[in-house]
Amino acid sequence: MKTYTIGVIPGDGIGPEVITEGLKVLKTAMSIDGFDCTFIDYPYSGAYYLKTKELVPDRVIDEWRALDAVFLGAIGHPDVEPGLVERSVILGLRFGLDLYINLRPIKLYASSLCPLKDKTPEDIDFVVVRENTEGLYAQIGGFLKKGTPDEVATVTGVYTRKGVERAIRYAYEVARQRAAGVNNGKPSRLTLVDKSNAIRPQEIWTRVFAEVGQEYPEVEQDHAYVDACTMWMIKNPEWFDTLVTTNLFGDIITDLGAMLQGGMGIAASGNLHPGRTSMFEPIHGSAPKYAGKNVACPLGAIMAASMMLEYLGEKTAAQRIENAVACLLVSGAIPSVDSRSGLGTSQVGDMVDAAMRE
Ligand code: IPM
Ligand code: MG
Repeated sequence: MKTYTIGVIPGDGIGPEVITEGLKVLKTAMSIDGFDCTFIDYPYSGAYYLKTKELVPDRVIDEWRALDAVFLGAIGHPDVEPGLVERSVILGLRFGLDLYINLRPIKLYASSLCPLKDKTPEDIDFVVVRENTEGLYAQIGGFLKKGTPDEVATVTGVYTRKGVERAIRYAYEVARQRAAGVNNGKPSRLTLVDKSNAIRPQEIWTRVFAEVGQEYPEVEQDHAYVDACTMWMIKNPEWFDTLVTTNLFGDIITDLGAMLQGGMGIAASGNLHPGRTSMFEPIHGSAPKYAGKNVACPLGAIMAASMMLEYLGEKTAAQRIENAVACLLVSGAIPSVDSRSGLGTSQVGDMVDAAMRE
């Protein structure tokens, strides 16, 4: 039997609760689809930091490199300096394992979930390829004369030829595959999202996009400045098919995208280095105010588990999870993907588990 070694980082806030449900459906998939997983738990979180003052040590990053995948809940604690543990765990994984793609599907499963009027699942089905190791997240910058009237704060956006090219190439591959799959042979459209009019060095994206695009004549090339992109996502979401963008813009437009799907409660992501250990997480945060109340929606974590199985090659199992979730949303059994669904976190996990067995 195929066996995968999965690192599990439940994290903070609602993280542990949603991860429990993700693991529940993962185990159901294991028993139905005939593969095995060994889970290794890691305690890193804001809460753990408050207790031990420990962030992720380098040797643990090395250990993670030997796993098949990492499954992460959420990181962020109200009593810890903002971003400290997030940078250690989330960015530690992204940078430490060189997870250069952040793949974020935006898919509406039931019209009733969408805050836009008259939009159906046919209108909202696209995928954002977010560059995940560069841009304004590269941690280049700092403070001078901090706390004084002469204070200077700087940050440098980094776009390397290699980093831009591998993100764009991956996005063209995704677009090509969508033409064959979800688009039913209809040509794909790849939209480059940047701000190269105001931030001129982003023109490297424009050039590499055109250059690599010559290898993909079947993919239509499209472009939107990021401000206009947010406008089009609301006005005409059906325009979008595959998008590729910088780290920060990808962060921002995928929160907007999550709302088009019904809310942060269902949005999932894969932090990938194709061919190597990759990390899967819901895109929501630790939501401390909902922690421990059994009200958080676990579908983001459950869909992240599905993405992880897809990545590992367990495609039947991945599809089984997605189908179960889709059925429950379409039938209205799960009426919303937020804390107002009237369903408990564990109840939603149980419903997905039962639907997978049908
Ligand atoms: C995300 C999150 C992270 C990011 C934070 C927690 C560092 O917002 O995964 O979208 O900015 O990438
Ligand atoms: Mg974000």
